[in-house]
Amino acid sequence: MPHKHSRTHGTQDMGFATNAIHFGYNPAEEHGALTPPVHMTSTFAFETAEQGGALFAGEGEGHVYTRISNPTLDLLERRVAALEGAGAAVATASGMGAITSVLWTFLSAGDEIIVDKTLYGCTFAFMRHGLSRFDVTVRHVDLSDPANLSAAMTDRTRIVYFETPANPNMRLVDIAAVARIAHEGGAKVVIDNTYATPYATRPVTLGADIVVHSATKYLGGHGDLVAGLAVGSAEDMQAVRLVGLKDMTGAVMAPLTAMLILRGLKTLGLRMQRHSDSAATVARALEAHPGVTHVHYPGLKSSPQHILACRQMRVFGGMVAFEVTGGMDAGIALMNRLRLIKRAVSLGDAETLVQHPASMTHSTYTAEERHAHGIQDGLIRLSVGLEEPEDIRADLLSALDAGASTVTKAA
Ligand SMILES: Cc1ncc(COP(=O)(O)O)c(C=O)c1O
Repeated sequence: MPHKHSRTHGTQDMGFATNAIHFGYNPAEEHGALTPPVHMTSTFAFETAEQGGALFAGEGEGHVYTRISNPTLDLLERRVAALEGAGAAVATASGMGAITSVLWTFLSAGDEIIVDKTLYGCTFAFMRHGLSRFDVTVRHVDLSDPANLSAAMTDRTRIVYFETPANPNMRLVDIAAVARIAHEGGAKVVIDNTYATPYATRPVTLGADIVVHSATKYLGGHGDLVAGLAVGSAEDMQAVRLVGLKDMTGAVMAPLTAMLILRGLKTLGLRMQRHSDSAATVARALEAHPGVTHVHYPGLKSSPQHILACRQMRVFGGMVAFEVTGGMDAGIALMNRLRLIKRAVSLGDAETLVQHPASMTHSTYTAEERHAHGIQDGLIRLSVGLEEPEDIRADLLSALDAGASTVTKAA
């Protein structure tokens, strides 16, 4: 099978922002174009039939067909791999495309996958209603205590899968500790790094084998695309490309989408810094408000996982979850009082977004499953955007204060 070429512009030793802007691209090779061209082509012409045959046989370097590789996707893949500190990456049409391409590549009937208790709703649905139909055993284990994994591993466990921070309740998992235990048992560790991004956490450098992303979120960063990425060793990514992506999902990213993500990556570090600073401001304000019962944000000193967060996160990210007095009904009413903050699913955009996991992103769980998996019915999820932090805070506080006066009047 064909293998893509790889010519980097030699910035491997430089810092995050430099690599996010330059890695893998040399303008001199593209007529001096400062911005990489977008290769809008589905197929590639062979100079001779023999050359085409050789590429199909996996001999020599070059592109064959965009479902397998494309120069614009190739640049994005090499750049994201560099940012994650990994050997290679595969671009996909969505985050779910990345997750399913990886899992279809490495799991077979009779295998077992151990997953954390809390997962993004569609990932949960894929495990519960998808993989389990193909004789893969899916076991949920609370990985926030790595000792639980030691007890749960069996000789059929092929993969240990989790999110950190987890969507939506912000639970963290100790990557290094879990990776050690999983590897002792011969399992691969796959981590959804959508919330943290490689700016905050680089799971491969802590022992993970594969990272998956919904690039729809912070990597794209502007709410104008749907995309995903898988990242890992060159060998694993070649398997994902040729099995999970090419044949089993066909979930290929479009070249124009890759160009938009390359543009988004240039400001990823700046944006994550600002998202994190503003989220900390908002989390502290929520914590101080009498109408708020719980705030889940790893950057808060009161967070039970703050020490772990300091160990494995460079910044604490832009996601905050909270619960208000009065539970779910009060939370929904609060959402409806917000003026600046938009009621929308997705996250990582410039706009601050709010949503209610139990009735929206995590409605793929039954009420009993949500209860068993630590997703409270009253939880409100906030993706803190890039607006002035004071304006975000003021919108939330005035909605909370209005709620408090309604309660007082009703009483
Ligand atoms: C943590 C996480 N992983 C994966 C996904 C799926 O990504 P996509 O919507 O790009 O398929 C999402 C989407 O919300 C997510 O929040």
